[in-house]
Amino acid sequence: MQVRSAVIPAAGLGTRFLPATKAVPKELFPIGDRPALQVVIDEALGAGIEHIVVVSSHAKPAVEAYLSPAPEMVEALRAAGKDDAAERVESIGRDWKATVVYQDVPKGLGHAVGCAREAVGDEPFAVLLPDELMGDSSLLAQMNGVCTSTGGSVVAVLEVERSKVSSYGVIDPSGERLPDGVIPVRDLVEKPPADEAPSNFILTGRYVLTADAWGEIAALQPGRGGELQLTDALRAQAARSPFHAVVADVERYDTGNPLGFLTASVSLGLSHPELAAPLRDHLSEL
Ligand code: UTP
Repeated sequence: MQVRSAVIPAAGLGTRFLPATKAVPKELFPIGDRPALQVVIDEALGAGIEHIVVVSSHAKPAVEAYLSPAPEMVEALRAAGKDDAAERVESIGRDWKATVVYQDVPKGLGHAVGCAREAVGDEPFAVLLPDELMGDSSLLAQMNGVCTSTGGSVVAVLEVERSKVSSYGVIDPSGERLPDGVIPVRDLVEKPPADEAPSNFILTGRYVLTADAWGEIAALQPGRGGELQLTDALRAQAARSPFHAVVADVERYDTGNPLGFLTASVSLGLSHPELAAPLRDHLSEL
């Protein structure tokens, strides 16, 4: 079955970016001229997704404002002859469906995704964490294809040095990595000590999940850190159904912390049609 919906959890507190996140959600910080949230939405749309479900919090009204129609702004821009800007504003939620759901207490990623159940319905769906940016849509498109062909859930992974695995979710492979980067998975472990980790492939913020994940998410009990962990729901799926990882072979930026955000801004700015040349000149001068 075609993957039509993407869930973007954006209800976290953004504590690593305080005081900036006191008033502005980090998901709306600009990468060049687009909010980080829009960069992730564009990745999803590029992989054939039609419906974007953003999980926000009532403490972050700017997220809903960004996704809502703004007819007066569009009209004012058109009246001022700024048709390009008007088109960019008007296209948000017009060319694709946008739904906002709420998680007012950040009880963990598993809980955040579960808040999107009704909006997505009983079908496979993607999950994109907005504090990780991918260079393009190819990874998600491949994951959608693997989900459709195997009928099971799919996670994206990165290969890292074994000493680094203890801060992440790690897959336990049940077979070899295939030439296209697909690895069969039998289990997942959240933040294992390096010497006990079943592999050096860590979860990175892209998932394509089959509809039975909703039941597993609803049954979650508080796990590590007292949070409802998405990884725990995936473990139940991996134990009984086909489950695969795809090794990410795209550029990837972790924008959840200030240094990662700066790095992403510069790197993605260097591939922007208008910003690239002057940015490169400035960096050379520095
Ligand atoms: P993070 O833990 O990286 O984001 O969660 P955070 O909690 O906002 O950041 P810090 O750690 O306080 O600096 C990854 C993504 O999952 C969302 C976050 O908004 C972020 O986009 N998330 C996390 C939720 O929506 N709800 C949660 O309960 C937890």
